[in-house]
Amino acid sequence: MTMQTGETAALTVSRLTKTFDVSAPWLNRVVERKPRQLLQAVDDVSFSVPAGGCLAIVGESGCGKSTVARLVTGLYRPSAGDLNFANGRDGKTLRAQMIFQDPYASLNPRWSVKNIIAEPLRELKLRTGAAEITERVEELLRIVGLSPSDGEKYPHEFSGGQRQRISIARALASEPEFLVCDEPTSALDVSVQAQVLNLMRELQDRLGLTYLFISHDMSVVHHMSDRVAVMYLGRIVEEGDTEEIFARPLHPYTQLLLQTIPNVRTPNRDREPANGEVPSPLNPPSGCTFHPRCPLATARCSSEAPQIRTSSSGARIACHMVDVEE
Ligand SMILES: Nc1ncnc2c1ncn2[C@@H]1O[C@H](COP(=O)(O)OP(=O)(O)O)[C@@H](O)[C@H]1O
Ligand SMILES: [Mg+2]
Repeated sequence: MTMQTGETAALTVSRLTKTFDVSAPWLNRVVERKPRQLLQAVDDVSFSVPAGGCLAIVGESGCGKSTVARLVTGLYRPSAGDLNFANGRDGKTLRAQMIFQDPYASLNPRWSVKNIIAEPLRELKLRTGAAEITERVEELLRIVGLSPSDGEKYPHEFSGGQRQRISIARALASEPEFLVCDEPTSALDVSVQAQVLNLMRELQDRLGLTYLFISHDMSVVHHMSDRVAVMYLGRIVEEGDTEEIFARPLHPYTQLLLQTIPNVRTPNRDREPANGEVPSPLNPPSGCTFHPRCPLATARCSSEAPQIRTSSSGARIACHMVDVEE
């Protein structure tokens, strides 16, 4: 559906849905006569990630990006829909690893860096014997631009960017072919961000990795991805080749996101998108959920949800106001 001919998909996701039960406790519901409350965080989402490529998922906070990441890595079970991983180089189902936004929270502060990186090696029995493990840990530290002596230190002795390098080394220790990166550089300063992103690109080429890359930042997405899926309130509203989306964004939401790319000359300008914010998924707007913020909205947009359509060029878009050559 989203594939170019000749490409194989590392991951195909079909009609993925995740509903959270956010009801008050049973007794409160009975006493206060409140109904059960369900929150649709991901709603009928389909995409595929080309092997060796990078698909970015972009959208403002609360759009369901992290929930997709957690579904893909198996941290959550889908409420509906399917996830299909291709077979990896060893003939078994591809192994996916996740890199989180906050490396401090994902690294055990009481363990030395060497032990943190060695854990997956021991767990998966990828290396046995102290000498082999040490050798591999040192190699992984070098791969991410740290020095072998850093293995003796603890996470708090490093800067944010270095800590993210440690989490990357740890993720690579299990020899994954697929990495799910959830806002991996959002907590870092801009200059450090660029260094870590460049490292991730270099590793992708060198190790033949496939990335599902999640970000709220269009400039990061432009730098990293071959394809982009734009999410709004749990749904994909537009998906296509990165260059195409940046040159000709079709969906009004994609256009809104592009307006928020910071201008280098006015870096301190408020970067929050105009026209209000993402509504609560507990009480989503009728019809097209973007209609209250959309400059093009008509009566039809507030009553009828647009279906996602695929154009002859392979782009997908869900908007009543955009003509799609099918
Ligand atoms: N474990 C959970 N339980 C209940 N609601 C959740 C849970 N995880 C996420 N949500 C809700 O789902 C929506 C999407 O969240 P999330 O996937 O974290 O979005 P994003 O990563 O794009 O900011 C939000 O409204 C959030 O509050
Ligand atoms: Mg998130």
